[in-house]
Amino acid sequence: MKKKYCIANWKMNQSVEDCENYAFKLKSSFCKTSSEMIVCPSFIHLSKIKDLFGDLEIQIGAQTISEHLNGAYTGEISVEMLNDFNINWTIVGHSERRQFFNETNQDIQNKLKIAVENKINPIVCIGETLLERQNSKTIEVLKEQIQTTFDSINCSNIKLIIAYEPVWAIGSGVTADLNTISETHEEIRNILSKIISNSEKVSILYGGSVNPDNCEKILNLKHVDGFLIGGASLDPEKFLNIYRKMN
Ligand code: PGA
Repeated sequence: MKKKYCIANWKMNQSVEDCENYAFKLKSSFCKTSSEMIVCPSFIHLSKIKDLFGDLEIQIGAQTISEHLNGAYTGEISVEMLNDFNINWTIVGHSERRQFFNETNQDIQNKLKIAVENKINPIVCIGETLLERQNSKTIEVLKEQIQTTFDSINCSNIKLIIAYEPVWAIGSGVTADLNTISETHEEIRNILSKIISNSEKVSILYGGSVNPDNCEKILNLKHVDGFLIGGASLDPEKFLNIYRKMN
């Protein structure tokens, strides 16, 4: 059995007050299960969230990292800075980073490499656009993303999560249908088995308009090991509701 994860990606949302209310609600109703919960707030709230969550068994992650260790890179946050705050997860290659910040597969490989070398566990996002799916290019695109990103990177000393997020399903309210998710996750598992050693330990999550109503059916699919959740994770009740259903 692979580890199951329920991950919140808050993106550029939540005020300090929202963070406090969120932590208050989790403190009154969170109960650790066999699944792991990870919350990824904005950089500026990482340390605040860490303090607010206190000894709750919830892990905290960043939404991206710099591909550099340190130096003149205005506005960037390094893995060393995350390590200073005992933050040991980061999302890498989210489609919004690819789309709005022009991150390429090569940039994502650089980020993965520096994360792995500094013992930050990566949540690597992959996924095709609508046009790529319509042109039957999905598997080709995913293969290219995985091959380039993991080329000569040794992931054996870290926990590795892959999040399959079809770009057209993110924030759209349209989830990929169950067959599509099932087939694509199976393909991803096949691709990983040829590229990564110990690939059977890698958890493959689904992301894209997951909510408390659709999560159970998706989770019942073979090869789905949890979720990366944007919109629904901003509401602690919805997020907890999904987490509880993962048992
Ligand atoms: P969504 O976002 O749940 O709002 O679709 C998912 C993501 O971007 O990780």
